[in-house]
Amino acid sequence: MSARTVLAADGVMKRWPNGRVALESVSFSVDEREVVAVVGANGCGKSTLLSVLAGLESVDAGRVQFRGTPITVPNRAVRLSRYDQRALSAHRARVGLVFQQFHLFPHLSVGENCMIGPRYGLQKAPEVAKRLARAALERVGMHEAFDRRITELSGGQQQRVAIARALANEPEILLLDEPTSALDPQRTREIVALLRALTAECATAMVIVSHDLALVREIADRVVLLNAGRVATTLPTEQFLASDEPLIQAFLSQA
Ligand SMILES: Nc1ncnc2c1ncn2[C@@H]1O[C@H](COP(=O)(O)OP(=O)(O)OP(=O)(O)O)[C@@H](O)[C@H]1O
Ligand SMILES: [Mg+2]
Repeated sequence: MSARTVLAADGVMKRWPNGRVALESVSFSVDEREVVAVVGANGCGKSTLLSVLAGLESVDAGRVQFRGTPITVPNRAVRLSRYDQRALSAHRARVGLVFQQFHLFPHLSVGENCMIGPRYGLQKAPEVAKRLARAALERVGMHEAFDRRITELSGGQQQRVAIARALANEPEILLLDEPTSALDPQRTREIVALLRALTAECATAMVIVSHDLALVREIADRVVLLNAGRVATTLPTEQFLASDEPLIQAFLSQA
């Protein structure tokens, strides 16, 4: 781990309550300004890894650190000290997570969805939360939809709002789970362009889970291939896409 490392997982093992081991032993890190793509077959543990990195899911072994501070959520057998609990809450507010199925609140407006993080995660006053929400919506081109209902929006618009909600806390790292998988080719191109612009305009580090090789090629600096809960390989994007390693070839030929 270097001084530039933002988020790091070290030997992380995650067993779901039903006994399924989603992550066997994953070591992974992201540096400042770095965009890392996490790829791999369905069920290899990509979404689980993002939840662990966001501090939302417990782990059964290993640890997760944000700029050197432990933010590991232990399994139920272990109680967190108040200090670690505070570090974890701060971490959750500092990480922007965009879920695979958006998980927007349908009963709230676009603006209200984006105000939740600043208001309750960062404990900002209502008018400050509103300003942060508006600024985030502006960055994704959805500021005119502030008062609209989530259910009135198209899939592409909902994805933009989900990204804005993650940006509203001005996170140091953005975690995106398949940001284009629910979209048609035109909307996909728009979201790729948006993410590309975001990486160019700000220093936010990003972890993007995606099956979309065009997206990976366009914005990732490095690719991590997961295979059955382990990191199979990690390579700079160009080398990954040109690799003739059998596991990478098997993935590329199916993607
Ligand atoms: N909440 C859960 N409870 C039990 N098992 C789970 C849970 N979430 C995921 N799993 C299991 O953990 C493994 C990894 O799942 P995960 O969702 O992380 O995979 P993924 O790589 O994101 O897959 P996909 O490409 O389909 O999104 C799978 O075997 C899955 O069935
Ligand atoms: Mg997934």
